[in-house]
Amino acid sequence: MNPEDRPISPQAKTDDRLDQALRPHTLKEVIGQDQVCENLSILIQAAQQRNEPLDHVLFYGPPGLGKTTLAYVLASEMNVNIKVTSGPAVERAGDLAAILTNLRAGDILFIDEIHRLGKAIEEVLYPAMEDYSLDIIIGKGPSARSLRLKLPRFTVIGATTRLALISSPLRARFGAVYRLDYYDIEAMRKIVQRAADLLQVPVEKKGINEIACRARGTPRVALRLLRRARDYAQVRGDGIITLENASESLRLMSVDSLGLDEVDRRVLLTIIEKYNGGPVGLSTIGGSISEEPDTIMDVVEPYLLQLGFLERTAKGRIATRLAYEHLEIPFVQENQPGLFDK
Ligand SMILES: Nc1ncnc2c1ncn2[C@@H]1O[C@H](COP(=O)(O)OP(=O)(O)O)[C@@H](O)[C@H]1O
Ligand SMILES: [Mg+2]
Repeated sequence: MNPEDRPISPQAKTDDRLDQALRPHTLKEVIGQDQVCENLSILIQAAQQRNEPLDHVLFYGPPGLGKTTLAYVLASEMNVNIKVTSGPAVERAGDLAAILTNLRAGDILFIDEIHRLGKAIEEVLYPAMEDYSLDIIIGKGPSARSLRLKLPRFTVIGATTRLALISSPLRARFGAVYRLDYYDIEAMRKIVQRAADLLQVPVEKKGINEIACRARGTPRVALRLLRRARDYAQVRGDGIITLENASESLRLMSVDSLGLDEVDRRVLLTIIEKYNGGPVGLSTIGGSISEEPDTIMDVVEPYLLQLGFLERTAKGRIATRLAYEHLEIPFVQENQPGLFDK
């Protein structure tokens, strides 16, 4: 299955206009992530008081939690332009040089998936971030010379799902690094309620709660489940997202009580049934269910770890007792050599 087609995929492409309408635009409108928001508000005020651009900011965490949203929020709070690109989109050093020379003072350059920037391109970014300069080589061979261009003072905001893949010199150039975590249930309810208000869908409290509980602590998933529940309520119900309409639409998407879908269950079942509960390597799991190990690592595993269903060991992944219980499979200790030979 294409990862983006999963009903609970936090990476799925959404309707851009809708996405835009649902996105918070100011720090005040951002729900949850209190500590990150408080830090950002200090960062913004300090920069404004000194009349300087924002320090370079790096956001990391699983997809769908608000990294892109916060980059836009920072731009609107600072009242500056934001240019958006991504690691894989910048193919040559010249591409980055072109982007950098078009920035104006104070502008934000948002680089999504920054861990996928090539080495040569990163090297252009270092002096640009550090002292706002760009080294370009003119000509070839013995007559080639290097020219240093001054850039306006600007801000890089990077986003990544894989902090570990960011080289340490790049990471060191970010003055502020924030981790986004899964949202608690209270914040999830508020996010679903806010979206329902903006979309003008009638909802009942229990319907909201059902969607909030089953959205994996991930706003993007919640918004997607809300839209499907709205469809269901409109076609099969009386247009109101009640508890029944919400749970029925979730059942039809095979999203279970904790928000796990087919792919999550297949990962757990593979570990449990094929590999006796593990330990088993991620690429082996990926191979046996035909999913990219990267998808499992980015989208499936973080949430299963968060639930305490998986344990990551040096020898591979292990399914925990909680996972057996959730899947209603008897947990037999001999099944779990990995847990006891540590
Ligand atoms: N704190 C939040 N409050 C309300 N909506 C949010 C929040 N964080 C994210 N969203 C919504 O969730 C969706 C995904 O957020 P996004 O910033 O694209 O995530 P990421 O870049 O981390 O993958 C967006 O459509 C946004 O409207
Ligand atoms: Mg994003």
